[in-house]
Amino acid sequence: MEQLIKDIDLLAGQETTAPEESCGFKVSEESNTGKSRKLYIESYGCQMNFSDSEIVTSIMQKDGFDTTSEVDGADVIFLNTCSIREKAEQTVRNRLVHFNALKKNRPGLMIGILGCMAERLKDKLLEEEKMVDLVVGPDAYRDLPGLIREVDEGTKAVNTFLSREETYADISPVRLNSNGVTAFISIMRGCDNMCSFCVVPFTRGRERSRDPHSIVAEAKALFEQGFREVTLLGQNVDSYKWSPEVNNKAQLEKREVSEVVNFAHLLQMVADVSPELRVRFSTSHPKDITDEVLHTIARNENVCNYIHLPAQSGNSRVLKLMNRTYDRDWYIDRVDAIRRIIGQECGISSDMIAGFCTETEEEHQDTLSLMDYVKYDFSYMFFYSERPGTLAARKYADDIPLDVKKRRLQEIIQKQQQHSLERNKLDIGQIQQVLIEGTSKKSDQQLQGRNSANKVVIFDKKNYQKGQYVQVKITDCTAATLFGEVVE
Ligand code: SAH
Ligand code: SF4
Ligand code: F3S
Repeated sequence: MEQLIKDIDLLAGQETTAPEESCGFKVSEESNTGKSRKLYIESYGCQMNFSDSEIVTSIMQKDGFDTTSEVDGADVIFLNTCSIREKAEQTVRNRLVHFNALKKNRPGLMIGILGCMAERLKDKLLEEEKMVDLVVGPDAYRDLPGLIREVDEGTKAVNTFLSREETYADISPVRLNSNGVTAFISIMRGCDNMCSFCVVPFTRGRERSRDPHSIVAEAKALFEQGFREVTLLGQNVDSYKWSPEVNNKAQLEKREVSEVVNFAHLLQMVADVSPELRVRFSTSHPKDITDEVLHTIARNENVCNYIHLPAQSGNSRVLKLMNRTYDRDWYIDRVDAIRRIIGQECGISSDMIAGFCTETEEEHQDTLSLMDYVKYDFSYMFFYSERPGTLAARKYADDIPLDVKKRRLQEIIQKQQQHSLERNKLDIGQIQQVLIEGTSKKSDQQLQGRNSANKVVIFDKKNYQKGQYVQVKITDCTAATLFGEVVE
């Protein structure tokens, strides 16, 4: 456990100020239904990966596994991995070394690599690392029982086949680390954008949208189990597109179809499940987010006023090199539309990359000035990390020295801190609806929840329960948290 905590510190401290859930790792929890074997699963990377671990757990439970939160009791260890930056991969390599040391005393222990690193490195992981028994890419999880059998029989097993259709629509995820109030629903997989810095299109394959009826059914089932908030997940939710006959984009482009469900329609369908069910979504792409989506948010009380709209850079030349397919003016127009249609109080967050190939000081200043214009509520901030095989790695030199990247990143982080505080101060004195998620991390006499704009709000416990909506008057704040008291 000590090692795990060290890893969290490493992850939290350096490249980003992202909260634990979007760049740290999560461990499976205990389930004891009398199955004969135990699975321990550790997940890294984005929410989509955490969501995949819930699908994997469901498949494994059907195949005779219970889950455990302790490595000690495990027969099988899965690492569901991320390749987004070099450091993410290094963390996983360190964990592999750690788990292999355990294997010396427990020869039957099976170690599997899942997710994006499995997809990127494929059987190289078996050959070079010699530390894993199983390598399974994100579209091959249905094959896990068969692959486990192969390893049981003494061979190493690999499946990194990427699918154009797989959405795991019929698999009901086993909710891991759940607070019983908020849950994630994957609405699509893969990504068809080719941002030049990004490894995701290579590790997750082509974009495909999941049947909206299965999404609504999942949201309904969650609501009936007591959940009160769902977050719809995709790398670019605004390009969600589904039709009855054809459910993948490649085919859609070739055929004329009626009854296409776009993201705005899907959002409305999920919002209609119950006014008591909050709906969030992530990630919005600045090139694709439409006014129709913004009006759907504005129209529905239960669709949260919060948009994660990653800019990456505030300079049009850099954005072009990044192949983001929008420029600074386009981005600003989208932010203006959010403020106009939803309102000034709508939470907006971003991802920023410092020190992308050839970025000059002036261009870096443009990122800072874009931040001044938007005043993000918070951001995930990184310095550029070259990923093998990406467009940028092939076309541009990674020519910004590390100390310059880090200094620029610090400037971005500092500015964000100021803006987060400034934005939070605007909430003081307001009465906001908060959905209670559980006990505050700092005191068991206090509860924590989130307001519509996705900000954490802390207040005295009294007799309130998680899963309840309360009206909270905001009385104080830091850059990261709001404090308040419930008004009856
Ligand atoms: N689909 C989302 C991003 C998913 S990856 C979008 O388009 O916004 C999450 C974030 O990681 C990205 O937004 C980007 O800021 C960061 N990132 C991706 N590749 C990176 C790289 N090579 N170096 C540094 N940061 C990177
Ligand atoms: Fe990566 Fe761009 Fe796709 Fe986001 S939209 S996952 S940054 S390629
Ligand atoms: Fe990482 Fe793969 Fe997500 S690279 S950020 S886990 S899609």
